[in-house]
Amino acid sequence: MSNHNSSPPKNKTANQSKVNLPYFDFLLSAFSAGNDALASSFGRHVHWGYWPDPKQATLTSEDFAQATESLSQQVCSAAFIHNGMTVLDVGCGFGGTIAHINENYTAMQLVGLNLDERQLQRACTTVNALPGNQIEFKQGNACALPFADNSFDVVLAVECIFHFPDREQFFKEAYRVLKPSGYLALSDFLPNTRRVPLMALKLPGWSFYGQCNLSCDIRAYHQLAAKTQFSVASERDITSNTLPTYSYLRRLALQQRVTMKRAALETLAIEALSRLNWVNYYILGLQK
Ligand SMILES: C[S@@+](CC[C@H](N)C(=O)[O-])C[C@H]1O[C@@H](n2cnc3c(N)ncnc32)[C@H](O)[C@@H]1O
Repeated sequence: MSNHNSSPPKNKTANQSKVNLPYFDFLLSAFSAGNDALASSFGRHVHWGYWPDPKQATLTSEDFAQATESLSQQVCSAAFIHNGMTVLDVGCGFGGTIAHINENYTAMQLVGLNLDERQLQRACTTVNALPGNQIEFKQGNACALPFADNSFDVVLAVECIFHFPDREQFFKEAYRVLKPSGYLALSDFLPNTRRVPLMALKLPGWSFYGQCNLSCDIRAYHQLAAKTQFSVASERDITSNTLPTYSYLRRLALQQRVTMKRAALETLAIEALSRLNWVNYYILGLQK
């Protein structure tokens, strides 16, 4: 690992699958058109916010930025991240969680992995290793991790596992690259156990959020953990802490005069399912 931000590889690797995530196409073109409001909301983290007390949400862009930072912190806590660790962030987006760890811990070796080289280009230019830390961004697939066995203390997957082609294969890969007793921590949208058949309806690739599989409930996660030899160290339903995200997104869309029907409908659907408790936002910690 170098102590500079490394460039994503120029040649496409055998691991690369086609990235079909319209919401990232939308964000990247808005950033290059100089849209500062969208860049300040989603230029670092592309995930929901966490408000310790949702009633205190002020829904300003600063409030949302703080809430997205807090969500990263909550996932890091589930993995017991501390100084001197080697951490892999899978599906790292624009590198926001890597940046968060870089700014809050020292003597860290940090690796961000993403399928999408365009996102990695932004991560490489915006996230700079602080003295004492090392950062590398690498192109690759979550289900075929390009790392040796037993290389990381922690593997993170913040709000991205629903895009991966196969959760079980990702768990096997995370287990393989983790050192003994290492932690995998992730956040995900879980269907309420009684509603799983309904959630087996997957979002197709042409939807604004791309292909999403929201069919893994808490029971299925426990089965997956047992099958791949992880033990479940923690599970937290933080749905209520994330709900102000939807009000913020509506406000932002109005301010921006964004009239994308698909985006609005899909976001509204996730909001309704979350408010009905049919889908819950969880943070899970799993130990090797
Ligand atoms: C909702 S974004 C979350 C990004 C980031 N974790 C964050 O919290 O800001 C989902 C991310 O998963 C990445 N992704 C989707 N499928 C992937 C795969 N098979 N392997 C690696 N990354 C993947 C996407 O490119 C995107 O960056």
